[in-house]
Amino acid sequence: MQRFVDLAELGTPEVQELLALARRLEQHPEPQALAGKVLGLLFLNPSLRTLASFQSGMARLGGSSFVITPGQGSWQLETREGVVMNGAAAEHIREGLPVLASYCDALGIRAFAEGKDLASDLADRQFGAMAALVDRPLVNLESAINHPCQALADWKTLDELPGAGRRRFVLSWAMHPRALPLAVPAAIVHMAAMRGMEVIVLRPDGFALPPAIMERARAAAAVSGGSVSETTDRESALAGAHVLYAKEWGSTAHYGDAEADLEARRELGHWCVRPDWFARSAPDCRVMHCLPVRRNSAIADEVLDGPRSLVLRQAYNRLPAQMAVLHRLLKS
Ligand code: CP
Repeated sequence: MQRFVDLAELGTPEVQELLALARRLEQHPEPQALAGKVLGLLFLNPSLRTLASFQSGMARLGGSSFVITPGQGSWQLETREGVVMNGAAAEHIREGLPVLASYCDALGIRAFAEGKDLASDLADRQFGAMAALVDRPLVNLESAINHPCQALADWKTLDELPGAGRRRFVLSWAMHPRALPLAVPAAIVHMAAMRGMEVIVLRPDGFALPPAIMERARAAAAVSGGSVSETTDRESALAGAHVLYAKEWGSTAHYGDAEADLEARRELGHWCVRPDWFARSAPDCRVMHCLPVRRNSAIADEVLDGPRSLVLRQAYNRLPAQMAVLHRLLKS
């Protein structure tokens, strides 16, 4: 494996091999596997899980890591091409990224969506431009339109359920005070489709996932024997559901327009996952969320603190899943 930027680049057999390695590393730790190896981590955006789990995973495999957060102790980085650099950024990624890459054996990059131009974010242009400057193994720590580390860990979490996550998987929009990126919903709808699940995207009007994301998931479902549909009808979507994956994202009808997005979500406070959402689900329907989650905005306390919640297991699974990725990228 040369890089880990998109589950689709791997395909299902390789994902399953990675997860078998993750389980093996849980059972049989290899504390010297990556001795002498260095992982660089560049975070253009905040993180708790991704940052801590990569550093912990690298240390548990005998390697080390460094973290760069531009503007917080290191130079602010310019990502745009052809601009006169007379603003806050002192360094361009065209120098900064090759320099960082030269100090490590693999580099991880987090670069969220700019949230202004949907076509540009869907094409993952900023991450692509940065990836092109890195001449060694690269890990996508969440880009504008993908979060493969989350998807891999969530695949593992679903594998751990009775019936291996079974069939009916509902990805539901959830409330947040402002627009959030499409990376997690795009990665998760694709991951569940790759697994062959019956995937239903449940969302209010104005919050449909872009056709490119739905088509990509449908193409994966066509290979796996799964299906992908969408609805605004919560009751029918949740009837018989085995898994409810809650996620907040911005209005695609008003992409890049914060004021219109705010207006679109003004009356959507009832899109907070509450116990009564499970009235017609499978009795043991489980709830997933990638975290961070705003309690009683996206998911109610009773659900997060109750037996349906898998959120802590999902977060834990980031560690073994990413250790498997690092092992495959760096073990000689
Ligand atoms: N789920 C996730 O990526 O968490 P962080 O943003 O805290 O890394």
